Amino acid sequence: MSINNLKSRIQNRDACIAVIGLGYVGLPLVIRFSEEGFRVIGFDVDKEKVEMLNKGESYLRHIPSSVVAAAADDGFTATSDWMRIPDCDFILISVPTPRGPHKEPDLQFIHGTLNSIKPYLRAGQVLILESTSYPGTTEEKLVPVAEERGFTIGEDFFVGFSPEREDPGNTTFTIKEIPKVVSGITDNCLNMVDTLYSSIVERTVPVSSTRVAETTKLLENIHRAVNIGLVNELKILADKMDIDIFEVINASATKPFGFTPYYPGPGLGGHCIPIDPFYLTWKAREYGIHTRFIELAGEINASMPEWVVSKVSDTLAQRLVALQGAKLLILGVAYKKNVEDIRETPVFKIMDLLLAKNALVDYHDPYVLHLSPTRDYNFQMSSVDLSAETLAGYDLVLLTTDHDLFDYDLILQNAKCIVDTRGRYKNGGKVVKA
Ligand SMILES: NC(=O)c1ccc[n+]([C@@H]2O[C@H](COP(=O)([O-])OP(=O)(O)OC[C@H]3O[C@@H](n4cnc5c(N)ncnc54)[C@H](O)[C@@H]3O)[C@@H](O)[C@H]2O)c1
Repeated sequence: MSINNLKSRIQNRDACIAVIGLGYVGLPLVIRFSEEGFRVIGFDVDKEKVEMLNKGESYLRHIPSSVVAAAADDGFTATSDWMRIPDCDFILISVPTPRGPHKEPDLQFIHGTLNSIKPYLRAGQVLILESTSYPGTTEEKLVPVAEERGFTIGEDFFVGFSPEREDPGNTTFTIKEIPKVVSGITDNCLNMVDTLYSSIVERTVPVSSTRVAETTKLLENIHRAVNIGLVNELKILADKMDIDIFEVINASATKPFGFTPYYPGPGLGGHCIPIDPFYLTWKAREYGIHTRFIELAGEINASMPEWVVSKVSDTLAQRLVALQGAKLLILGVAYKKNVEDIRETPVFKIMDLLLAKNALVDYHDPYVLHLSPTRDYNFQMSSVDLSAETLAGYDLVLLTTDHDLFDYDLILQNAKCIVDTRGRYKNGGKVVKA
């Protein structure tokens, strides 16, 4: 199929879009393409997700089932059947890119996807990676698969990279409004990738290579990780100096130029910020470069759970309560507010440290009712109810995730003491910031 043919298929909405990996990134993409009138086929190896989606049900709290049902009415179907790949003109890959045990990139899901689709690729298709990865991934992993099938990139098959900027729970910006960085292996590839995304977002940002696009995504996340590391370090200093770091940041943020506020917390969480920077660190070693800012920020951010636990211990000691045997209530296990996402949450590390010191730990999180085993932890706990009575029954309440749903007055009035890692309360009285 020629480039002009593909373009007119986009314009006429005849093009069929495959989205592989229907998670936090893939599902919103499905919905956006569907809203614009495209036929969308979603692929996932998780049969339960496929089944739910085909029934018009959502498994992500911030995406209502009605939206999935509307996409299904418009022709969206989910499947685990790779034989449907030839039906698709554009194939978008949004599978996980976690880290291995030594913080090295774990590309098993990208490899799995490529192995699954390889036999079904056909001439005229456009293959686009959306998953975050190190510079060179698209060239090193996607291109060989197409070439092994005998295609000529930029002539009868097109390959590109376009990173997702999804921020689950953020209601200020929609996918349509967030500019999308686009790239291709050749000019023709870029042209195809750009034309596709221009039909669903208001602004695309074409860049000169897939490596630039891959690095752009990493820079965005490294920028956050390093700045959060900076404020986390300053938080510890400010605490020693009896200065409220949150008050300082909010005052600094009134400067109308040259300052972006970042807020300290109990540590980094989520699929992106604690992981992605280390994809670049790993790749940098190939060039003999040591990414010191990334490592330093990682070290500081990773040490925050220990610091929070030391504040809990000190706060209890001041009240003549030993950490060993103390009854503690943790508020929020999700890695950030208003979401159910517990991937890489620092709260698990905090819970683990507290339990290792024989504290009696309960948690409450309206979005995470049960804790199932993860790769690193096996808590097997359920969220306790939050009421004046339960709050009063704990020696200390530790605020780890500042969900908007929490009744902050109720907590303040009834908790014996509060260690606040999110700057939600003013320091003093029964509140200690950590
Ligand atoms: N979560 C975010 O906010 C966010 C934001 C920007 C970019 N990203 C990046 O997007 C990518 C996906 O992240 P996510 O948060 O959507 O992950 P996710 O875990 O929510 O979803 C990934 C989906 O892929 C499926 N999957 C795994 N292997 C598969 C395979 N071989 N074939 C088909 N499906 C498969 C899983 O079952 C899951 O449903 C990652 O690279 C991540 O770094 C995530």
